[in-house]
Amino acid sequence: MVFIPDLVMKSEFAYRIRYAKPGDITDLMRLYRKSYPQWSVKNTKYDLRHTAYSIRNREALVTTINGRIIGYAFFDVVWNYMHLGSSYVDPEYRRLGIGSMQLKKRVEIARRMGLRKVISDCDVNNKVAYRYHMKNGFRKCGYIRHLFGNADSFVLSKNL
Ligand SMILES: CC(C)(COP(=O)(O)OP(=O)(O)OC[C@H]1O[C@@H](n2cnc3c(N)ncnc32)[C@H](O)[C@@H]1OP(=O)(O)O)[C@@H](O)C(=O)NCCC(=O)NCCS
Repeated sequence: MVFIPDLVMKSEFAYRIRYAKPGDITDLMRLYRKSYPQWSVKNTKYDLRHTAYSIRNREALVTTINGRIIGYAFFDVVWNYMHLGSSYVDPEYRRLGIGSMQLKKRVEIARRMGLRKVISDCDVNNKVAYRYHMKNGFRKCGYIRHLFGNADSFVLSKNL
């Protein structure tokens, strides 16, 4: 496991990022339904399985404020690159840089592991997710048809 320095101070609150624990799964699924209802209504079966798998493999980070989980993000390692899974932030805490911090922490873990690239993807209709990647130094490098059901997806990458 790669150590992540976990305390981030913003002017009005402090949040922590840590690895998810098995006992977090109920909170993660609750936050998932709240954060991305248009997606979760169709995909809970896959996401529950993926969430449990990611926690078990220490490939899930959570962000907390006063111990309450307000965000989480997945990753996994494929040969010499990291693949980013979904990232969620509670709608009440958006646009405060928390999603970006969850992304930066995963990039930092990839760097510490000596990986060469970070690859991500997002639904072509998810404009916010696309901008969030661009803002954090990712560039569009591919396109996958029907990755998520009928929706196409952009592939995004960042060199380390
Ligand atoms: C995508 C998500 C994780 C971003 O979290 P966040 O904490 O709000 O993100 P940040 O505050 O770090 O924003 C980073 C950048 O993303 C872009 N962005 C974020 N929210 C945006 C919005 N509502 N409209 C336009 N751009 C937006 C901006 O470029 C922003 O930088 P800026 O605030 O300096 O302009 C969050 O919106 C979310 O949980 N969405 C639902 C789930 C989802 O789509 N996840 C991504 C799947 S790949």
